[in-house]
Amino acid sequence: MKISFILNGEDVVFNGEAGVRLIDILRSNFGLFGAKPGCLAGQCGACTIIFNDRVSPACLIPAFKIQDSEIITIEGFSQTIEYQEIMTAFANAHLGNCGYCEAGKVLCTEALLEQIPSPTKKEILMGFSGIKCRCTNVERLVRAVDSIAAIRQRRLYGGSS
Ligand code: FES
Ligand code: FES
Repeated sequence: MKISFILNGEDVVFNGEAGVRLIDILRSNFGLFGAKPGCLAGQCGACTIIFNDRVSPACLIPAFKIQDSEIITIEGFSQTIEYQEIMTAFANAHLGNCGYCEAGKVLCTEALLEQIPSPTKKEILMGFSGIKCRCTNVERLVRAVDSIAAIRQRRLYGGSS
């Protein structure tokens, strides 16, 4: 089966079985290892990608569903100014994310702020509900997202916010 889609802004084609998981396609066919195989059951968030503008677990998406879709992985997102802002704020907040959850947290932050430019604490926690991490300090994470939102508002609209 030939499946065409947009991956990190480029038109690509996957040639293979319709039921192969997207996480395996990214890693085996495109050499993108930022999305990690964790639970493989949609529970941990290690394989998070942005699929048609929504954060999604790549382990639950079969190949046949990606026809004509747009997929952004952490590798693609890492080329953006938004990525730099998120990483700087995470570092300043001393979140100490591990390699398994960091990409998911970054992409969840981006998807959340795209949807809600100034989210409440409750909305931030909802935005991260797909990431199973018990080691990050939640208050620091919320403060980091608040600061990213403020920096983004200043960059986009100027002034202080
Ligand atoms: S590996 Fe996909 S959610 Fe855990
Ligand atoms: S799972 Fe990565 S820091 Fe908690």
